[in-house]
Amino acid sequence: MGVKIVQTAHAVPTKIMTNYDLSQIMDTSDEWIRSRTGISQRHIATTETTSSLCGQVSEQLLQQAQLPATALDFIVVCTMSPDYFTPATAAVVQGMIGATNAFAFDLNAACSGFVYGLSVVQHYFQTNKETYGLLIGGEVLSRLINWQDRSTAVLFGDGAAGVLLKNSHTPHLLASDLATFGDRGGQLTAGYRGGASQMVNGVNQIMPYFQMDGRGIYSFATRGVPASIERALQQANLVADQVDHFILHQANTRIVAQVAKRLQQPLSKFPQNMAAYGNTSAASIPLLLDECVRSGQIKLGDILVLSGFGGGLTVGTQIMIY
Ligand code: ACO
Repeated sequence: MGVKIVQTAHAVPTKIMTNYDLSQIMDTSDEWIRSRTGISQRHIATTETTSSLCGQVSEQLLQQAQLPATALDFIVVCTMSPDYFTPATAAVVQGMIGATNAFAFDLNAACSGFVYGLSVVQHYFQTNKETYGLLIGGEVLSRLINWQDRSTAVLFGDGAAGVLLKNSHTPHLLASDLATFGDRGGQLTAGYRGGASQMVNGVNQIMPYFQMDGRGIYSFATRGVPASIERALQQANLVADQVDHFILHQANTRIVAQVAKRLQQPLSKFPQNMAAYGNTSAASIPLLLDECVRSGQIKLGDILVLSGFGGGLTVGTQIMIY
């Protein structure tokens, strides 16, 4: 028994911050941000939360499928910026939409979260019973941004996107490759609380905001993503030429171009939308997938590579037939 994506959807906060807006509050420029990253604007939460954005995506997915929330067997939210440590974002969403038959939990693999999530949830579709589940990537990264740090503040945006999954008789998820490099985890951190015991030293040592070795992550991504894609393609007995679309994590247009070059594939096979949303971490891959499906760029039967990289450090690839 396989699993297939039957609906896609996304939701973003209404407030948009352009590069120009950022240049009014920090020493940066539209030219610097666009030329180094490909980002022009991002959506920033005001009243929205990670749970409310994921809730909107869930409701849209159910409405598109004309399915009651009680038909869901599970909800998994991939996030590195949940509203709470507990309850999980997925549990908040489960309660919000009334998915009383669904179990729900969060998964954190940063920007690789959605790809890791697809690998994990496949397991729940092995039965003969008709099974439905939601897999959503949702982030409010703006709460992890130090607005005085121009080296990270210009990169990230808020949003949520996801898919409704159902079991199928034909296999759609062909192969996956997941890899983690915990020894390099210090290259990208946010929300450190390990030194937070006031009982011990009287100091509340927390580091809420992004700290990043930009060059280190760039080099990790431009080498790690093509290597992960090659491993996954090999498992699926496919070569890169057979792939219709490469849906990569939307962090930086230069990273996407480097990956295309290393795989010797035309850039036209790599749709991009970071100009409009910035880096939305776990939401970025399903957000791009949803836009490509809605525009008709991705069609039923297309061979897709989904590949993400980020905090952990993590990298992950899923090969699928849409
Ligand atoms: N505006 C203007 N100047 C800036 C800005 C800014 N926003 N940020 C940095 N600069 C300056 C620096 O101070 C530096 O100045 P100097 O030369 O006088 O010292 C200069 O620009 C170059 O800085 P670099 O950091 O060397 O710039 P680089 O070309 O490496 O680009 C970037 C930086 C865009 C961050 C790049 O390294 C990158 O994209 N790395 C990958 C990061 C990434 O994808 N992270 C997300 C991972 S996903 C996740 O899990 C959340």
